[in-house]
Amino acid sequence: MSLTTTATLHNGVQIPRLGLGVYKMEDGTDVYHAVLSALEIGYRHIDTASFYQNEEGVGRAIRDSGIPREEIFVTTKVWNDEQGYENTKKAFQASLERLGLDYVDLYLVHWPVPGKYKETYKALEEFYKAKKARAIGVSNFLPHHLEDLLTDVEIKPMANQIELHPQLTQTETREFCKKHDIIVEAWSPLAKARYLDDPVLQSLAEKYNKTAAQIIIRWEYQSDIVTIPKSVKPTRQKENADIFDFELTEEDMKKVDGLNQDKRTGPHPDEFNY
Ligand SMILES: NC(=O)c1ccc[n+]([C@@H]2O[C@H](COP(=O)([O-])OP(=O)(O)OC[C@H]3O[C@@H](n4cnc5c(N)ncnc54)[C@H](OP(=O)(O)O)[C@@H]3O)[C@@H](O)[C@H]2O)c1
Repeated sequence: MSLTTTATLHNGVQIPRLGLGVYKMEDGTDVYHAVLSALEIGYRHIDTASFYQNEEGVGRAIRDSGIPREEIFVTTKVWNDEQGYENTKKAFQASLERLGLDYVDLYLVHWPVPGKYKETYKALEEFYKAKKARAIGVSNFLPHHLEDLLTDVEIKPMANQIELHPQLTQTETREFCKKHDIIVEAWSPLAKARYLDDPVLQSLAEKYNKTAAQIIIRWEYQSDIVTIPKSVKPTRQKENADIFDFELTEEDMKKVDGLNQDKRTGPHPDEFNY
């Protein structure tokens, strides 16, 4: 098992189970060096979005890495003010141009903008059919958004990227996604490093001779969740990827599950100021 370990989306496409998130990395040197170092370490999955305003740097690092394009899984997303059928077509083209790519591996509806996400998703189905997106999906969709979307879709979403970490275990959305064969991806999988000093995580870190961040990422991995921790620092990128040489016991998995408080670091999808 390694950074190239994949999960299979329902259309057969393989998604590396551990990737690099690049939110808040500045376009230009920051994101460029972070992505290059991650690719050198062995990451093969990069998660960006038009909202992050760093797609150009991501694309440049991918090209300069010398790694064949088809070996890297690239996700980007359509932002809220770009939604609707026609606007999404323009937004997708603009993302491809900024990335300097002729296809993406996964294209996501970033948030369920009320009244718009169905039209947005229709455009995604076209990109998929045109083979411009190898997979399509959603982000921040609760079961009620998915239920509504699924009544209309031709191509079921392959992934749902949601905020998920030990204090926000999202069991309801996970169960819904499992039932419908939709892969769950965790965003802010480290909860933005806000509670790495938690005593349960610290005691497990000591027990396994790992860090609290590694305990969390391993817990996500063993929970069948695709995870995309962000770090600009090569040492932390290495640390976050070094989770394949140990296994949490069932009892310890339950200890981490037990940290749930349904506590978000970001907005609730039904309360977002769209
Ligand atoms: N779909 C959505 O709506 C959505 C929303 C938010 C995020 N995302 C995606 O999810 C990715 C990850 O989420 P996130 O960036 O919000 O938060 P995160 O990955 O939970 O945490 C990132 C923070 O933790 C620090 N960090 C990383 N590894 C660490 C380690 N081993 N020890 C201590 N600190 C560590 C980072 O600092 P340094 O960089 O300084 O190391 C950064 O401050 C994003 O980058 C983005 O791609 C998606």
